[in-house]
Amino acid sequence: MIEALKKLESDAQGEATLVSDPKLLEELKVKYLGRKGLFASFSSQISQVPAEERRAAGQEINRVKLALEALFAAREKALESKGVLSARRLDTTMPATFPELGSLHPLTQVIYDITEIFRRLGFNLAEGPEVETEHYNFEALNIPLNHPARDGFDTFYFEDGRLLRSQTSPVQIHVMERTKPPLKVIAPGKVFRPDATDATHSFMFHQIEGLMVDEGVSFADLKGVLLAFAEEFFGAGTKIRFRPSFFPFTEPSAEVDVHFPSRGWLEVLGAGMVHPNVLHGVKIDPERFTGFAFGMGVERMAMLKYGVEDIRHFFENDLRFLKQF
Ligand code: PHE
Repeated sequence: MIEALKKLESDAQGEATLVSDPKLLEELKVKYLGRKGLFASFSSQISQVPAEERRAAGQEINRVKLALEALFAAREKALESKGVLSARRLDTTMPATFPELGSLHPLTQVIYDITEIFRRLGFNLAEGPEVETEHYNFEALNIPLNHPARDGFDTFYFEDGRLLRSQTSPVQIHVMERTKPPLKVIAPGKVFRPDATDATHSFMFHQIEGLMVDEGVSFADLKGVLLAFAEEFFGAGTKIRFRPSFFPFTEPSAEVDVHFPSRGWLEVLGAGMVHPNVLHGVKIDPERFTGFAFGMGVERMAMLKYGVEDIRHFFENDLRFLKQF
């Protein structure tokens, strides 16, 4: 029996090395190792082996079984690495499956793009809380209680009198309280207003605030910085214009428009020279220091740059929309 096993082993080796088709190799494996294969008959014959030889025969059966298994495994591997892959294992004509990769939300991308432009112009990133006090959202910004200017910045209140900030301008105050001039900051964040939702309004949206305070900062610096920004963001040659306006925390104040060849002048942000009352409130001497501030709506910038017609697209999480960015 031991002789027969040895012959079986060498036969298998000989045949297996000749086969180069994975299908035939599989058939060969069944012929030797299958349930009704050549090898199986040995195991069932063991009881007929004389008692004194049985132990050795059993050991040989085990050895040959392992050897055959190793042989076929090695042949399979060899065929695979040669690129002869069985259809059962890998169908190279099948479309590949890719993991679904996420990406940054278009508003996040626009916030990164805008803040990056200002960082290159020397502005540092700043952040402030979304839950504010009346002091930071109004009083410190020279918006007195009962002043009609409050209406434009109306917001959501908590029962304890705190509120959701309706503009990023309170960050100006936080920054000037803890940093003395010269200072240049850019502060993106969420703001809230109790507006009815439509194509251009949302009760939550994003703003980016800019602030520069130093000795001798002028309106010309404001214009230069905003023109440099507009050309970076919307493209070289972009035209901007300043229209006189009113904000309680800047004097003079302006509304800034960008010119789009297809649509004409469109308003994109509010700006102005920091009001002396605001500087005074944070113990910066308005006789010595001057500054400019501006605030822009992120959704508006994104809509203008990418031709998005409805602000609600940004908040509905519709992948057909989001995947375009
Ligand atoms: N905070 C103003 C707004 O929300 C924008 C602004 C910021 C205007 C800074 C002037 C200076 O409309």
